[in-house]
Parts: sequence; structure tokens; C-alpha cells
Amino acid sequence: MRDPSARAWRRTSFLLGALLIAIVGWIAYPHVRNIIVPPEITAAARGRQRAEELGCFTCHGPLGRAGVINPGSKYESVPPFHEGTLMMFAKSDQELREYILHGAPAAKLQSEAYLKEMRGQAIRMPAFADFVSEQDVDDLVAFLRASSEMLFPPEGPAADGEELAHELGCFTCHGAMGSGGHANPGSLKGYIPGFYGPDFAELVRDDEELRAWITNGGVPRLSDDPLASFFLERQRVQMPAYGGFLEDKQIADLMAYVKWVAGEEWREMPLQ
Ligand code: HEC
Ligand code: HEC
Repeated sequence: MRDPSARAWRRTSFLLGALLIAIVGWIAYPHVRNIIVPPEITAAARGRQRAEELGCFTCHGPLGRAGVINPGSKYESVPPFHEGTLMMFAKSDQELREYILHGAPAAKLQSEAYLKEMRGQAIRMPAFADFVSEQDVDDLVAFLRASSEMLFPPEGPAADGEELAHELGCFTCHGAMGSGGHANPGSLKGYIPGFYGPDFAELVRDDEELRAWITNGGVPRLSDDPLASFFLERQRVQMPAYGGFLEDKQIADLMAYVKWVAGEEWREMPLQ
């Protein structure tokens, strides 16, 4: 006959063993743990997802970068969000909110000429007030600001780096202004990290690591780690190694730009 107390003991020791392994894993891989624990997508990345769900891109084009033809409009098509277009329509973050909530800024809605102009267009901006929460509006404004291309780093290396980042397509992977969040199947968090916020702080500890990401597409701290490297190799989108294709000055410029974004001063800046 089986001894029930021996069975209970076996079960307890199995559970204790499993717990021990879990604890050792937890302690041995702090960076993996930190990366796993909080999926911290930025407000702008959340805003992009909401914009997709709310149908904004049906009229404003993919990612708000190419509005659909709009017969009767003096602009010929629905305005996009990038290349400074936003500021032709909205003078402040408040007016961006009013576009989302009411279809246009309050001041314009009081102008008979504007209303007549809108009536003459095939496509009009809808009011989303009944479809969005306050959080949605904040996130959408963050996304619009990031997409605007109207938040400029200071002249010099950071500004040169921004131009180069556009040319090289850094933002198609890293999101508008490095806001992150585009899907990356097989990666630890499921998305491509941005250039600011907790993910960035975890993945880029110092200048040396920033340079290594851009030149080699990774840092030894992660690629030499068995658990982290499992996810790095498995993820379908990899960070390209640009080192062989860029001059030292270009890499320094990209670093200056990414560091400016990571500093998050632009958060307080008005669109200009
Ligand atoms: C049915 C088509 C349509 C949809 C859907 C739509 N828009 Fe618009 N949007 C327009 C049109 C047309 C204008 C131009 C209005 C004007 O001339 O004042 C506009 C203007 C804007 C503007 C100011 C001009 C600019 O630079 O684009 C913002 C900001 C904006 N929309 C944001 C959004 C957001 C955010 C959403 C989703 C929540 C959205 N729109 C959904 C048609 C649309
Ligand atoms: C094809 C998509 C792609 C392009 C283009 C791309 N990256 Fe990346 N990048 C990634 C992915 C994916 C990661 C995360 C890699 C990982 O975890 O192993 C990453 C990581 C990074 C990191 C470190 C992590 C973080 O939080 O951002 C930096 C910095 C970075 N990239 C900068 C750039 C710069 C600068 C450019 C343009 C010169 C660029 N990337 C272009 C996909 C891309």
C-alpha cells in the first residue's frame, strides 16, 4: 500500500523545488524580469492604436500620412497629420482636442463661412465626443503631436540626426518620433521599443550601449544572456546594424537625436 504521507511529502518537495527554480530565475535575470514585467507603451503609441480603432486613418490615410481625395475641398484631399500640416488647421493642443471632440475648433464652428466651406466638401471631419474617453483624447493628442514633425531638437547634431533618422526610416519601425509600439511577433513584449520611457531606459543604459544598438543592432549585456538572447533571436523584426553603412559623424548625430527624444523636453513644447 502507498503511504499517503510520503506522497504528500513528495508533492511538497516538488512544489518547493519549482519555487526555488522560479526564485533563482527571477534573481539571476533581473533585466529580463524588468523587461517582462511592465509593458509600458507610450501615450503616443496608445493614441496610434486608438486612431486605428476609431477609423481616423480611413480618411487621413495610413498613420495619418496621406489623406484621401476630398472633392470640393480647397486642399483637394483630407489633410494629413505630418509635415507641419496640423498647424495650418489647429493652433494649439486645445484646438487639436476640439477637432477630435467636435469636428473642428470652437472658433471655426462659429464661423458661417467655415461651415459653408465644410458643407461644400464630399468628406467632413466627424465629431468623436460620444466615442472617446478623456484618456483617449490625451493619447490621440500625444499621437498627433508626435506625428506633426513640428517638435524640433536644437540646431546641431540632434537636428542633423533627426533628418538622418527620417532618411533611414528609423520611425517606420520605432513609431513617430520614436514613440514605439509597432508589433514585433516573438519579441519579449510583442512590440518594437521607442526612444523614451521605461523600455528605453531598460534597453539603453548609457552612450556606449546607444552606440552599440545603432552600429551593431544590439548590446552584449542582452545578446550574451541566454534567456534574453532567446527572445532577441526569435523576434521577427531585428534592429538593423547600421555601423558598416554610416560615418562616425552620422552615428554621433543619430545618438544626439535619440538622446534629445529620451530627455522628453519636447513634452512641454508647443507645436511650432
Ligand atoms: C470621415 C473622414 C474623417 C475621419 C474618420 C476623421 N477625420 Fe479628421 N479631418 C477630416 C477632414 C475632412 C478634415 C479637414 C477639416 C477642415 O478643413 O477643417 C479633418 C481635420 C482633422 C484635423 C486637423 C487638420 C489636420 O492636420 O489633419 C485633425 C487633427 C483631425 N482631423 C484628427 C482626426 C482624428 C484624431 C480622427 C480619428 C479620431 C479623425 N480626424 C477622423 C476627415 C476625417
Ligand atoms: C526594421 C526595423 C528597424 C529600423 C528601421 C530601426 N530599428 Fe532600431 N530597433 C528595432 C528593433 C526590433 C529593436 C529592438 C531590438 C531588440 O530588442 O533586440 C530596436 C532597438 C533600437 C534601440 C534600442 C532600444 C530602444 O529602446 O529603442 C535603439 C536606440 C534604436 N533601435 C535606434 C534606431 C535608429 C536610430 C534607427 C534608424 C537609424 C533604427 N533604430 C532603425 C528595429 C528597427
